[in-house]
Amino acid sequence: MIKTGFIFDLDGVIVDTAKYHYLAWKKLANELGFEFTHEHNEQFKGVSRKRCLEILLDIGEVESSQEQFDKWMIEKNIDYLAYIEEMDSSEILPDVPKVLNFLKNRGVPIALGSASKNARPILEKVDLLHYFDVLVDGNNVTKAKPDPEVFLIGANKLGVQPIKCIVFEDAVAGIAAANNAKMTSIGIGDSQTLSEADYNFNDFTEIDLAFLEGLLT
Ligand code: BG6
Ligand code: MG
Repeated sequence: MIKTGFIFDLDGVIVDTAKYHYLAWKKLANELGFEFTHEHNEQFKGVSRKRCLEILLDIGEVESSQEQFDKWMIEKNIDYLAYIEEMDSSEILPDVPKVLNFLKNRGVPIALGSASKNARPILEKVDLLHYFDVLVDGNNVTKAKPDPEVFLIGANKLGVQPIKCIVFEDAVAGIAAANNAKMTSIGIGDSQTLSEADYNFNDFTEIDLAFLEGLLT
């Protein structure tokens, strides 16, 4: 009987949606009269939509009322969803299905642990929803990563002890959240940026099945 659970972040781990977040935030920044760069976008990884807008307005030194803030949140998300609408399974990052299939065939419970409120429609668009036993996303949490809440809810819903959970993450805050939850953290992306992770890989093509097998208990 397998006691291990796997938890996947979504954006930057399963699909590269950062480019669509970038385009939608850039449009808003340009409307407000300032530039939004790829370097700025790096700061947004793993960060909630609300916090992203706060940072964006700081970058542009823009003041806003609560009402205006809420309108910009909605406007950005409408633009973002227009990109999501065009997504299909060709946008799944390399070898993600290899890993999901392996875990599924071994009967390992799988959760999503994402800050995004759009996680479900994205998984539906790329046809991966059926792999996940549990979905925890921006609609279910009150505290953002690096708080461990999102992953602890995931472990609880999977019925797996946190210490037996393995987390895939591409964001510094996400690795910190996994570590704070006392889970095993696997950084997907630049190993220097994600140096706090227990293991590092540039992407899933570098992960072989023997490595995954070794994580199962
Ligand atoms: C995270 C992304 O997964 O979700 C962030 O890395 C994003 O960039 C956050 O801001 C919230 O996403 P959404 O889809 O709810 O706006
Ligand atoms: Mg991410």
